[in-house]
Amino acid sequence: MTDNPWQLTKAQLDLQARARRLAEEVIAPRAAAVDASEEYPWDNVAALQENGFTGMTVPVDLGGLGHSLLDAGLVVEEMAKVCGVTGRIAVETNMGAISAVLAYGTPDQRAMAAEMVLAGDKPAICITEPDAGSAASLMTTRADRREDRFVLNGMKHWITGGGVSKLYLIFARAFDEQGEELGIGGFLAIRDVTRGLSFGRREPTMGLRGLPEMEVLFENMEVGPEMVVMPPSGFRHGFADLMNAYNSQRVGAGTVALGIAAGAFERAVAFAKEREQFGRPIAEFQGLQWMLADMSTQLEAARSLTYRAACSRGHGADGPGTSPFPDATLAAQAKIFTAEASIKIVSDALQVFGAAGYSRRNELERMYRDVRMFTIGGGTAQILRTVVASRVLDQKLPQTRDGYV
Ligand code: FAD
Ligand code: COA
Repeated sequence: MTDNPWQLTKAQLDLQARARRLAEEVIAPRAAAVDASEEYPWDNVAALQENGFTGMTVPVDLGGLGHSLLDAGLVVEEMAKVCGVTGRIAVETNMGAISAVLAYGTPDQRAMAAEMVLAGDKPAICITEPDAGSAASLMTTRADRREDRFVLNGMKHWITGGGVSKLYLIFARAFDEQGEELGIGGFLAIRDVTRGLSFGRREPTMGLRGLPEMEVLFENMEVGPEMVVMPPSGFRHGFADLMNAYNSQRVGAGTVALGIAAGAFERAVAFAKEREQFGRPIAEFQGLQWMLADMSTQLEAARSLTYRAACSRGHGADGPGTSPFPDATLAAQAKIFTAEASIKIVSDALQVFGAAGYSRRNELERMYRDVRMFTIGGGTAQILRTVVASRVLDQKLPQTRDGYV
């Protein structure tokens, strides 16, 4: 294997090396404690921020460095190799809700969001509701127009960072003053500032425990026009525009899974060379050699697809390749493949460790729990297959019993 199969530029290799150093020296030693304490790692956030790894994608005119998604992904991957939680934080300060605001927001909204992520905030994206998970377009959180303002009522759950994130991008169904539905829009709220925004129960999650997964509640939460993120083609096509922006976070999620798998693989290789049975290193047994070969192959395929998705541009206003976001199909394919491959790779890496892998003293146990979520959060592997199938077949594939009414 060449050292630089992706032909990363010198600047990208330097960025990757800096991220790796921070991950190994600062983030890795804290990872077990973050998992055990289940507390948001503010010190890791500060370390990311001090190193310029938050708000990386903020354009230069807003005070950022205008890094590409691939640049941000290189950092995410290094963090995730040692700490999935920090990898996810790196995703959400650089992609996701921030991508939507930077692309669709007013100049003031863009400046506000840029300032927040550059200062280390991880904006939360609020889509999922108890009765609208995969069927996100059936959300019932509503935003009723009152003159130039909107009043939001409803609730979301499984919101990553609820209560610790400062900025919230909320998807809600908008209605005019006569109660006529306008479509789905994005509404911004700020913790401790926007009245009517509050937080409910925290989910006791299997993995990624340093990140709170919260219920977020909106009770007569009033927002002025300055907090409405108007999708380019208005509310009517707002859901599609917002989901389009969400493709960058899907690539980010795949990158975290990739990083966790790469970290598990490195540990398995090192252990296989060192652990002896039958008087020989276990790496000398063909049974394990083939497992390691398969893990490496899956990893390279996952990395290629993820990087390719990160470099892609979807269908934008001026035709194919002009969207500011990754291509929807590639983003879905990358997340399906990488999530499923990573779960298998981490499971196999744990197997290489034998009983030691099953112990909570071992990092593999944490990585196994952490990586499991990536076929669920951010669009399940099943629903993403419908996204891909719809594009492969070039037809709408309504999942409701009656199709579109
Ligand atoms: P359901 O939609 O109820 O699905 C249940 C099962 O049915 C799944 O296996 C699913 O694949 C399958 N299924 C459903 N519909 C179909 C279909 N049409 N065809 C085939 N199979 C189908 N949401 C946010 O808005 N913001 C966040 O920050 C966020 N963070 C998350 C973090 C974590 C750790 C997790 C686990 C979830 C997070 N989510 C977040 C929620 C996540 O996006 C949803 O869990 C996901 O969209 C699936 O919804 P659901 O859990 O309600 O499952
Ligand atoms: N990128 C770009 N456009 C997208 C998109 C994506 N990822 N997902 C949907 N759209 C567009 C569709 O092309 C369609 O546009 P059109 O009206 O111009 O044809 C529109 O949004 C509605 O999509 P459709 O698939 O017809 O919607 P649906 O009502 O059947 O809902 C989804 C299906 C989109 C909700 C489902 O596929 C999905 O992604 N669920 C997971 C939600 C999720 O990821 N939650 C994560 C929260 S963190």
